[in-house]
Amino acid sequence: MPSPWDALYRHRDAVADRSILSLFEARPDRATAFSRRLGSDGASEGGGEILFDFSKTNLCDTGLGLLLDLARAAGVEARREAMFTGAKINETEGRAVLHSALRNLGGSVTVDGRDVMPGVRAVHAAMYAFARDVREGRFTGQGGAITDVVNIGIGGSDLGPAMACLALAPYADGPRCHFVSNVDGAHVHDVLAGLDPETTLVIVASKTFTTIETMTNADSAKRWMAARVADPASQFAAVSTATERTAAFGIAPERVFGFEDWVGGRYSMWGPIGLSLAIAVGPEDFDAFLAGGAAMDAHFRSAPLEDNLPVLLALVGIWHAQVLGHATRAVLPYDQRLSRLPAYLQQLEMESNGKRVAMDGSELPVNSGPVVWGEPGTNGQHAFYQLIHQGTRVVPCEFLFARAGHEPGLAHQHRLLVANCLAQSEALLRGRSLEEATAIMAKKGLDGAERDRQARHRVFPGNRPSTTLAYPKLTPFVLGQIVALYEHRVFVEGVILGINSFDQWGVELGKELALTLEPVLSGDSDGAGKDGSTLMLAGYARG
Ligand code: F6P
Repeated sequence: MPSPWDALYRHRDAVADRSILSLFEARPDRATAFSRRLGSDGASEGGGEILFDFSKTNLCDTGLGLLLDLARAAGVEARREAMFTGAKINETEGRAVLHSALRNLGGSVTVDGRDVMPGVRAVHAAMYAFARDVREGRFTGQGGAITDVVNIGIGGSDLGPAMACLALAPYADGPRCHFVSNVDGAHVHDVLAGLDPETTLVIVASKTFTTIETMTNADSAKRWMAARVADPASQFAAVSTATERTAAFGIAPERVFGFEDWVGGRYSMWGPIGLSLAIAVGPEDFDAFLAGGAAMDAHFRSAPLEDNLPVLLALVGIWHAQVLGHATRAVLPYDQRLSRLPAYLQQLEMESNGKRVAMDGSELPVNSGPVVWGEPGTNGQHAFYQLIHQGTRVVPCEFLFARAGHEPGLAHQHRLLVANCLAQSEALLRGRSLEEATAIMAKKGLDGAERDRQARHRVFPGNRPSTTLAYPKLTPFVLGQIVALYEHRVFVEGVILGINSFDQWGVELGKELALTLEPVLSGDSDGAGKDGSTLMLAGYARG
């Protein structure tokens, strides 16, 4: 039987010369047919309708049908159910994958014969109680009410809460939150420099509580605190699965918030790794964020594949990255408060799906997930859009925008923002032909060879694919929907690729080598066995 991939490759070749614009001309209802709306039933409190438009891609009914066949052949539906019901689908680590349980607090899920939900609810309750104590001044520092919270963590213990704290800034009415991640001492130094140790709470967020960057920064923060605070550990809290290590660090058990190994680091912001966010916006808004995630879970779990938003995002992703071979995908939020979304998605997508072997250890017959990158619009327009429009490589673009901002007095700026977003996807689609460019140059008074030369620089090839995700407003609920949407998209892509999206062995080698290089830099090791380049650079660093 021919593989669904082969059918897709044949289809790709058959439609290679077709322009996306011609698809719109051939089918007046294309925009409706190749978009989906979620939440139009008004079911989502604080939410509203999310619109996913994938009509500006070279997908037609046939292509979409073949992608859906691929998803079905890969067993997406069965795997999805296995995930939600606590099966150990993280097969290389022997773990369930249950971040969805952190946002669906009412249910019951069994792992190893035990309902894990009572434990999840207890941790949530403790985390909310602590967040309230901090916000309402019952938990204080030596100098009184907490004014600043510093989250020390890296990767999944940083990117999610840091992204969300910025995204939900209009809802932040608690202490200011800051984030320290890099082992570069400049980071912890610069963040702490402006803070008062006597009114600062430090959260050490690390699933393993062994990550060298986090533990080194936590030690530095403790020393900074100790210079002014008699009992520095009393102004520390911890979020970790490793409670014996948090105790060894000196953090009292009542300020340690645990979670279990079936929550992957990059999927963990829904639980206590989100403590900084819960303190910033308060438990009610954090609950709304969870409700948004849970609403997306319900949709993902029950909607037919052809109307399922995470599935459709994944299929468009597979079409661009694995079928058409585009190596990267740009995420372009026209929403300044989502400026950390691309960085967050880099970990979510690249740590999850940047893998060269399938679950059974065999080499992938197709490319792994794409390079994900991006910046908010309109800033990116004045930086790298040149390449997106006129470079030789095609970069599928993923635009995001909100119907409304949070600044009613600046509605005209929001209009301008959205106009720019729509203009970019239109320009990518439409392009500008040589004839059009030549006419423009002629209008400017040029003629002959100079007109033609100048015109060629002004040609936009167009026919460049993009998708747009539009949402009513960046509320806590909507942010929850968006994050869960991306999580499930990554999951579906992983199932189709046949990989384990929930381990991250690829980060280990560099960590191990860093441990062997530190003594080379300090002069305690001669670095025998290292290559010449590494030794030269180490010598330079030693000075
Ligand atoms: O090194 C990669 C990684 O393990 C990520 O997967 C994780 O999010 C990050 O490090 C931080 O890990 P931890 O929360 O255990 O400190």
